[in-house]
Amino acid sequence: MPLLLNRLLAAIVVTCAALAGTAPAMAQPDAPELYKKHCAECHGADRLGRQGPALLPQNLKRLRKKRALGVIANGRPATQMPAFGEQLDKSEIAALTDLIFTPLAIQPVWGKAEIEATRNIAVEVDKYIKAPMYGADPLNLFVVVETGDHHVTILDGDSFEPIHRFKSRFALHGGPKFTPDGRYVFFGSRDGWVTKFDLYTLEILAEVRAGINTRNIAISPDGSSIAVANYLPHSLVILNATDLAVENIFDVRSKDGESSRVSAVYQAPKRNSFIAALKDVPEIWEIKLEQGPTLRRLNIDEPLDDFFFDQGYRHLLGSSRDGKSAVVIDIDAGKPVKRIALPGLPHLGSGITWTYRDRQVMATPHLKEGKVSVIDLNDWSILKTLETRGPGFFMRSHEKTRYAWTDVFFGPNRDLMHIIDKTSLEIVKTIKPAPGKTAAHVEFDRDGSHAIVSIWDLDGAIVIYDAATLEEVKRIPMSKPSGKYNVWNKITFSEGSSH
Ligand code: HEC
Repeated sequence: MPLLLNRLLAAIVVTCAALAGTAPAMAQPDAPELYKKHCAECHGADRLGRQGPALLPQNLKRLRKKRALGVIANGRPATQMPAFGEQLDKSEIAALTDLIFTPLAIQPVWGKAEIEATRNIAVEVDKYIKAPMYGADPLNLFVVVETGDHHVTILDGDSFEPIHRFKSRFALHGGPKFTPDGRYVFFGSRDGWVTKFDLYTLEILAEVRAGINTRNIAISPDGSSIAVANYLPHSLVILNATDLAVENIFDVRSKDGESSRVSAVYQAPKRNSFIAALKDVPEIWEIKLEQGPTLRRLNIDEPLDDFFFDQGYRHLLGSSRDGKSAVVIDIDAGKPVKRIALPGLPHLGSGITWTYRDRQVMATPHLKEGKVSVIDLNDWSILKTLETRGPGFFMRSHEKTRYAWTDVFFGPNRDLMHIIDKTSLEIVKTIKPAPGKTAAHVEFDRDGSHAIVSIWDLDGAIVIYDAATLEEVKRIPMSKPSGKYNVWNKITFSEGSSH
């Protein structure tokens, strides 16, 4: 009987396919033509983006198809993205969605000439201005990235009053990076734009598009160059931090010539180098900066992602793809020295360190289970595993506070935030700053006396807590404030912050 049914079904499928083949051509919307007519003006005929963002599968990964359909039909209120629900029928919108989730037939070229052609420099007003144009402590500012409506707010870290707000590039990615004196800050966007902003004059000074799909940026220890980690094309771009001119482009290939995306780039201050995680080949790259950027390859057994560095930058810990372990790499020796069993995909990039009973420990939330691991950095043994109310993403502390804060980022309890006592390694308080809305990403002020929590919602906020009493002090409405960065904690490489 089942056999018969199968045959019957197969016959129907064959018949349907035959019918589809003979159906009139007008049933199939001509997606390239529709795109040219309705979308190319804003998103570019090449889909690389113009005043609208790039529409490529790599760039739209977080949006997903279902939500893309909604955006095309309904537009995005308060932006230039129009609603097409009236002009286009469902099959046309579906065809356009399929089109933008199809990779380009030919890999776009994004070399020195293309990058340089996008570069914009403002008049060098910053040259004549030697002090901030406002009263706040410039080293206690917070740079708050609001990804809801693509803006950045500059917040006074003493009064907790916003002093400036400006439009950023679409979808900033990875944390902003500061020059060592704390004056300039650089942003990287999903579509590859790098923006240089002056925290004294509160002006954008320069911009360049260094990639088509970008993961993050890093600044060199002396503040003279910026590295850009790209997924598209497969490149690592080094820019001059003064004017964002291209200094170097590394076409990222393994020693055997295999091409790879760059997952992330980090600065290694005590090594005067950049370190890059490669997505597709078993190598880690160190770009030494002594005499111009030069490449050193570290050969590993498998590609590693998401690095944590010890405070001396002698070792790094990377997540293994199996999601079950992390690998310790001795950076000087250029090889793995230990594998730690860490199930649940630890989010090493947000790991923080502190001193616990005379030893250095690091703590990291797990992305796939409700746990925080505390690791002894002397021998990389797991000291303790804390149970949380769900998988977390970020973790933060400060030299001057007794507590480490970590979010529950995924699952039904994502409105919760745990506070861990660093001296007992116990969760001492769990808060719910905005019921039903994701609470995530904590940052401290310069002296560690306040902790700021984000409510990740279009109708969101930042919530400021007294870091000692753990009581709420103030709440400021913001549009999905995905991250906030205190100038002082960033330029001093506070142990309570990831870098
Ligand atoms: C008048 C300019 C304009 C036109 C025409 C336009 N868009 Fe957009 N589109 C934008 C802008 C600007 C955004 C970014 C909106 C925001 O800030 O969220 C956007 C966003 C989008 C997004 C969401 C991207 C993301 O990563 O969140 C999709 C998908 C999209 N557009 C598809 C289309 C398609 C398909 C068409 C043609 C049918 C089209 N757009 C026509 C300007 C335009």
